[in-house]
Amino acid sequence: MPTQTFAFANQKGGVGKTTTVLSLAACLADAGQRVLVIDFDPQANATSGLGQEKLEGHSVYDALLHGQPLATLIRQTEFPNLDLIPSEEDLAAAEVDVPRAERYLERFKMAIEPIKAAGTYDFIFVDCPPSLGILTMNALVGVERIVIALQCEYYALEGLTVILRVVEHLRSSGANPTLDVEGIVMTMFDSRTNLAHQVVEEVHKHFADKVFKTIIPRTVRLSEAPSFGKPIIHYDRHSAGATAYMALAKEFLKRQRAEQAAAVVVAEPAVPPAVAPAAPAAPEPPSPPVA
Ligand SMILES: Nc1ncnc2c1ncn2[C@@H]1O[C@H](COP(=O)(O)OP(=O)(O)OP(=O)(O)O)[C@@H](O)[C@H]1O
Ligand SMILES: [Mg+2]
Repeated sequence: MPTQTFAFANQKGGVGKTTTVLSLAACLADAGQRVLVIDFDPQANATSGLGQEKLEGHSVYDALLHGQPLATLIRQTEFPNLDLIPSEEDLAAAEVDVPRAERYLERFKMAIEPIKAAGTYDFIFVDCPPSLGILTMNALVGVERIVIALQCEYYALEGLTVILRVVEHLRSSGANPTLDVEGIVMTMFDSRTNLAHQVVEEVHKHFADKVFKTIIPRTVRLSEAPSFGKPIIHYDRHSAGATAYMALAKEFLKRQRAEQAAAVVVAEPAVPPAVAPAAPAAPEPPSPPVA
């Protein structure tokens, strides 16, 4: 299977993007998939959440602006099959500097190409910042699909409409004509509140087939894990949060396999040739000898 690339995005802050990137990546890696997480957020939460240090100059900044090969930034984490391209505060300058560069929307798309072509990873996850600025736009132009983390709260649907409009615009403008919504992950679900149930119902009503069936509960263990620099399955494998993200990983892989199978069917000719190819013509009988 070729490397599949996903941006985890939502312009709303604190909705569970980074938690979903790290938890899902760690569950997939644990299941034997090779995963690269790219921290595209100057807050660098994905970097510290994987127990990695933020170091000046160690972010995608120079790869976006000065042609540094992105692969030189890859770090192994302590978790097998899970690698990271880190971030740090200085990446914030990209919001100012990238728009002045040539082909400014395609900087990431160009930078990621050699890593995709090398085929080292099954999945590349880009953790976007909480804005629709140039970093998020570069991520969305450079990947195949977007995963939207959506907090089960009142303003969730409004935010969802905005990001879906951006996806549609990137498609129709030709910036990324094949960008697709992989799915919506409902996060921080609190089963005790009516509101959470209503939001889930509402999102299902509008986006039925796009919503992942697995809903991520609000749990203290999930909020503690980043301070130990560990994804939830390595922090507390038997917690409700870990169980939920493992279920999400299973569902995610099932979707990938279904999409791959559908792609193969489309690529094959729909109808086999109706008529068998004609047999080679029999050789002419030798002419009778002339008397
Ligand atoms: N299911 C959950 N239960 C409890 N706490 C959670 C859950 N998911 C995320 N959190 C906590 O909520 C906060 C925000 O989550 P997270 O950092 O994943 O959101 P984000 O969308 O990446 O934020 P930002 O927009 O700032 O990048 C964090 O402190 C995180 O630990
Ligand atoms: Mg984040």
